[in-house]
Amino acid sequence: MCGIFGYVTKNEEALGSILIAAAERLTYRGYDSVGAATMNHGKIDLRKDVGKVDAVAAKYNIAEMRGQRGITQLRWATFGEPSQVNSQPHLDSNGDMVGAHNGNVVNNVELREEFMAEGMIVRSQNDGETCVHAVERYIKRGYQFIDAIRLAYGDLQGDYAFVIGRADDDKLYAFKKGSGMVIGIGDGFTCLSSDLPSILPLTREVIRPQDGEIVTLWADRVEVRSVKDGKIIQRMPETVTEAMDAVQKGGYPHFMLKEIHEQAQVARELIHLLDGSPDVQPLIEKMKSARHLYFIGCGTSYHAALAGAVYFAQLAGRAVIPILAPQFIAQYAPAVGYEDVGIFVSQSGETKDVLNALEAAEKRGMSCFGLANVVGSTLTKATSFCLPLCCGYEISVPATKTFTNQVVTFLYLAYRLAGKDPSTALGDHSLRSGRAIDRIPDLMEQTIEMVAPQIEAIAKDINEWNDMYCLGYGATYPIALEGALKLKEITYAHCEGMLSTEFKHGPLSAVSKGFPIVFVAGTNDVPLIISGINEVKVRGARTIVVAEEDSRLRANGDDLVVIPKSDPQISALLAVLPLQLLSYHMSVLRGFDPDFPRNLSKTLTVD
Ligand code: AGP
Repeated sequence: MCGIFGYVTKNEEALGSILIAAAERLTYRGYDSVGAATMNHGKIDLRKDVGKVDAVAAKYNIAEMRGQRGITQLRWATFGEPSQVNSQPHLDSNGDMVGAHNGNVVNNVELREEFMAEGMIVRSQNDGETCVHAVERYIKRGYQFIDAIRLAYGDLQGDYAFVIGRADDDKLYAFKKGSGMVIGIGDGFTCLSSDLPSILPLTREVIRPQDGEIVTLWADRVEVRSVKDGKIIQRMPETVTEAMDAVQKGGYPHFMLKEIHEQAQVARELIHLLDGSPDVQPLIEKMKSARHLYFIGCGTSYHAALAGAVYFAQLAGRAVIPILAPQFIAQYAPAVGYEDVGIFVSQSGETKDVLNALEAAEKRGMSCFGLANVVGSTLTKATSFCLPLCCGYEISVPATKTFTNQVVTFLYLAYRLAGKDPSTALGDHSLRSGRAIDRIPDLMEQTIEMVAPQIEAIAKDINEWNDMYCLGYGATYPIALEGALKLKEITYAHCEGMLSTEFKHGPLSAVSKGFPIVFVAGTNDVPLIISGINEVKVRGARTIVVAEEDSRLRANGDDLVVIPKSDPQISALLAVLPLQLLSYHMSVLRGFDPDFPRNLSKTLTVD
């Protein structure tokens, strides 16, 4: 997740060290490149590159940079590989303006072409540069700077925050759309950032601009204007009282809980990104003509692959082989060829098991594509192309937001492969309110709201148990596996995920009085789940059912955790949220740190 920071003072100052320190405070968001620009007396000094803050700062002597205004940016690659030219900030064609953004401008490919056709010098593939040229376009057409910014806002689609300054000026200008941005007001300076942690050590007086507003920062004042009519909006500063650690965790006690709550927003951003991605259609064409289609991953990413395979069959009538990466090598690699397509799924893009499978597949000439969160990772470089998951940095070891965005991507691809407009393919209720896929973020928010208190109570009730099961069927089977993995990973209890119908083939003998069994019930599978519930209930189990409201499930299960009504595939996706919360609360109740479970690391680069 990129981060921006800007700083304005009255006179020229040594801003380099201020920018480096602010960049350091943004690092927890995750990044691959760093840049800084200062503006003073008509001159712009820009230094940037791929690497860690201290390394780039040392290489380019950023500490010596002086100016009256400064911008620093940490880049987490989405558009364009990590490289010096794609690093931010970016200049306009003539080097009169410099700007940087965080987030994603989803129509940047089209805009870049327009800008080049209009004669502008476009140097990178990065969407941050698009933001600068979007302003330049209207300056060239004769608009005043503030009006050029207002018009640029209308052209730039996506979720982002953006800051820009002119060489020959004494101000910075900023706006945001869908993404966060905070303005700080200090003694003799003003500043802005993507989030609070980079501002807090400087000042606790802040203004939080809204979408559709443009902020102008002078050294001693801040002005907020409406994009729509250019009129000034009165906004009083607020005083922030939280501690730094709490602010970094977004006010949540752990990163895991923060990341669980971020899922709706990152899904929203991902859907925008996929809508604008030039890579989706070529991938669809490749998948259409493939002899066999493999979805390959490990751990949570494998569960997403499994969910994807169910969606592809149910929605597009396309069979997919979902397979754990090491088993792919043993079971399928000797038989694959150039007619086959593989999608390699990985949050980190560095999992050795996945890279080994990729190598084996490539040796056989298979077409290999990726789905990864860390753009610039080995997977993104080694595949023909890799769709980004667009989640930003996932700090907590248990994957949460990257899982849901993997599943959302597969759902999106399944509809595109089916050749159906999602609005007509997803059933009646979707027709009433546009594309059903667009409703996922809101449904996620509703789910968390609906289930949170009940899940906390259930966590307390079953916390003494060190043995559990989590069962699902069809689209909820991968979700049950994922819920069980989360529970194992951070509670250290044994929790097995299983197809509900398999339970009677052996595990049933483990059931004793009070034994907790979670059922994830899809709307079409209720009768099947009810027989599973009763099979274990008569033997004393405590049955916890995650499902949409259903009187039959309410009558049969011990606890019904109700999720919002939606289509079966979306409903399955929503069901993972209560399971993530259950594992989180049980972990905390046991006195463990869910963010850093024992024996595990975020990225497994070993065999
Ligand atoms: C998920 O909570 C785990 N941390 C783990 O199973 C993880 O999904 C697995 O190691 C694969 O990692 P990747 O997605 O980075 O390839």
